[in-house]
Amino acid sequence: MAQELQSYVDGKWVDALDGERFDVFNPATGEVVATAPNSKKADAERAIDAARRTFDEGAWWPRTTERERGRILLRAADIVRREHERLAELEAVDSGKPIGEAREDIAEVAFMFEYYGGWATKIEGEIPPVGPDAISLVVKEPMGVAACITPWNYPMMMATQKMAPALAAGCTVILKPPEQTPLTALEIPKIMEEAGLPTGVLHVLTGFGETAGAPLVESPGVDKVGFTGSREVGKIIMRSGADTLKRVTLELGGKSPNIVFADADFASAIEGSCNGIFWNQGEICSAGSRVFVEKSIYDDAVSAMSERARHVRLGSPLDEDTTMGPLVSEEQKERVERYIEIGEKEARLAVMGERPSDPKLANGYFVPPAIFADVTNDARIAREEIFGPVMSVIPFKDIDEVVRLSNDNDYGLAAAVWTNDIKKAINTARALRAGIVWINDSQPAPTEMPWGGYKQSGIGRELGREGVEDYLEKKSIYINLSQ
Ligand code: NAI
Ligand code: MG
Repeated sequence: MAQELQSYVDGKWVDALDGERFDVFNPATGEVVATAPNSKKADAERAIDAARRTFDEGAWWPRTTERERGRILLRAADIVRREHERLAELEAVDSGKPIGEAREDIAEVAFMFEYYGGWATKIEGEIPPVGPDAISLVVKEPMGVAACITPWNYPMMMATQKMAPALAAGCTVILKPPEQTPLTALEIPKIMEEAGLPTGVLHVLTGFGETAGAPLVESPGVDKVGFTGSREVGKIIMRSGADTLKRVTLELGGKSPNIVFADADFASAIEGSCNGIFWNQGEICSAGSRVFVEKSIYDDAVSAMSERARHVRLGSPLDEDTTMGPLVSEEQKERVERYIEIGEKEARLAVMGERPSDPKLANGYFVPPAIFADVTNDARIAREEIFGPVMSVIPFKDIDEVVRLSNDNDYGLAAAVWTNDIKKAINTARALRAGIVWINDSQPAPTEMPWGGYKQSGIGRELGREGVEDYLEKKSIYINLSQ
């Protein structure tokens, strides 16, 4: 029996006002695991009214102290740790990621609550000097009502990395989780209630982007939108948020270069490059989808990575031996398969893995890992975000060429550089137009480190100190002392 989920508005679990629901699938089997309210504009308005009221006149900021806000988030961290295994299983079933990866996600979710719980008491203002006859105070205040619109690849992490700093800042929050994976986001209100969050501060609205997300972006009652998702929707949000001059933070994916120099530690570079595109089925905004390899080791690297790809084990996300799960949806599977067809015309398919043999998984949205060799940087599979386990390998001759090729893309989220020459590593990192550069590693995204893109990979930064600054306005107060 599919579970009937509800949205969470003003402290109550509610259906959509028109009663409509949509199906939530288990991507490993194609079965419906739950149905959720298909929220529309009227539902969004109900949540906005409650969040607005709580912010403007309710039990929340400025009536709470920073210490209270911090303590609530710290308690949430403990509850997530207590519920760790259950949340990890829910995440794996909903999104398709292997259980081991889901466990890592949930551990980081707990840390995010802890980290931003710590920040609540450290949002300090400034006292810029303005001469002997006056004092100026710059105080930081919450932006107001924040809408957090999140994607399906890291469902609970993406929700937490927006709502936890927003609460630390003193905002009220409306979370709109992705239609593909609403399960763990709907655990957050239960966690926050137990942690002592006052009613009306957090709301979770399930539904589709065009119908439940868009009204949040358009509403004058919402002050800030934090969004992670596709570049196309990021542009829509900027456009439709313009009417109310919405503050926006956008995290929009990429086509990130992974650069392997000949003097790198070969085994680590091969392993790391493969992880960079096969982890989480390649459904990662910062995936190292363009693998540049120096010509002298190019053939060896392609065969070593192909060998590594053959060892990827597709299977049920709950099976401990699985190293790659299904993609999140039928739509995403078709999209990635279309890119593989395009790739077969543009380049040489070096390796393609196999679907799982278990008949129970026959209807799952599995796409085995694929490596294309001899790709040119202007091929569609090297230019466009695929968001699946598809690697494009491109040879290069020297540092100047690889920097030029790496930067020749509209995106600029992340990059990885593999070399044992420290000067080369730093020079390459400095020359890359990307928000995050890993040296001799790929994909670590610690909560303490700012995260976001150059160019069309987005606007603003999340995580780290920036994550909380993103939900604050600065107010300058000038005090005349001369009269
Ligand atoms: P999407 O960008 O449509 O969805 C992300 C979130 O935005 C979801 O919560 C969705 O309901 C919401 N949304 C969609 N349209 C909206 C609108 N008009 N107004 C307000 N909210 C809206 O991403 P989708 O369709 O799930 O995936 C398509 C492609 O986007 C993927 O293949 C991938 O390339 C990219 N993507 C990038 C992500 C990243 O981490 N940067 C995450 C997910 C997808
Ligand atoms: Mg979409």
